[in-house]
Amino acid sequence: MFIWAAEAAAQSFMPPQGTKIAENVDSLYSFLVWASLISSILVIGGMTYFAIKYRRKTATDKTAYIPHNALLEFLWSFIPFVIFMVVFGWGWYVFHQMRTMPKNALEVHVTGQKWNWSFKYKSGRTSRTLVVPAGEPVKLIMTSKDVIHSFYVPAFRIKQDVIPGRYTALWFEAEKLGTFHVFCTEYCGTSHSEMLSKVEVKSRADYDQWLLNDPYKGLTPIEIGKKYFTACTACHNITDQRLVGPGLAGLFGKERVFVDGSTAIADETYIRNSILNPQSQVVEGYEGIVMTSFQGQISEEEILGVIEYIKSLK
Ligand code: CUA
Repeated sequence: MFIWAAEAAAQSFMPPQGTKIAENVDSLYSFLVWASLISSILVIGGMTYFAIKYRRKTATDKTAYIPHNALLEFLWSFIPFVIFMVVFGWGWYVFHQMRTMPKNALEVHVTGQKWNWSFKYKSGRTSRTLVVPAGEPVKLIMTSKDVIHSFYVPAFRIKQDVIPGRYTALWFEAEKLGTFHVFCTEYCGTSHSEMLSKVEVKSRADYDQWLLNDPYKGLTPIEIGKKYFTACTACHNITDQRLVGPGLAGLFGKERVFVDGSTAIADETYIRNSILNPQSQVVEGYEGIVMTSFQGQISEEEILGVIEYIKSLK
């Protein structure tokens, strides 16, 4: 009864279990916690009990001679050995399950970069969230454009470093429909903590539908940028007239003067930075006008599209 209550309490601290692997990891974890807890109580409890019971009571008090006990010494070595072997075998079994990629898995390419995740499907669709069908194995083929990141889905209990210059892989089979967090778990710079995404687990039919509804299917970068630009029109004109922020026609290639007196040419890097870190380069005359960052809301494909679209505005 007590154990069930404690298990239930422990579960409530854990993320939901979104895969079979998650259940296996949690069972092993529970075993480790209970084995450690019981061992600690036996060792620390026994130590405390004997320290009090056999404490020195008078100045002349001496400890009786205690001969060794071979059976006892054997047992306190052998029982932990058995427990360690169980942990090793069990851990190896779960790890093997995690690392053996099913051959029929649906493959998704994952790219990490400072500071976002992007997902590319065989159909050509790209996405900022990982959308997958439930009940089917999914294999992630992952790489990084810059530094080491780490792809972690707590609800699936899977995590893998994402490394520039090589591919690493992960697989999972989501059991439950719903949305689950993705975190970067390798410190990768200023916005590491904002390098977030989501896994959306859909039914097969909904997943197929999602894959077909690619908003950018067959579009050129300029067309993608033009389509995305509806998110910008509240503040930016596509003429050279100022709205809340600067008008964008003819902007590309011009020199920009910032409030701190520094200057830069409005090239691709400048536009990219203006989308992701707008407050780092406030143009003279726009003091106090705050553009919110599009970090985490815009994909690489969309950034590229917006840059090309701005270039095309004459
Ligand atoms: Cu990417 Cu931390």
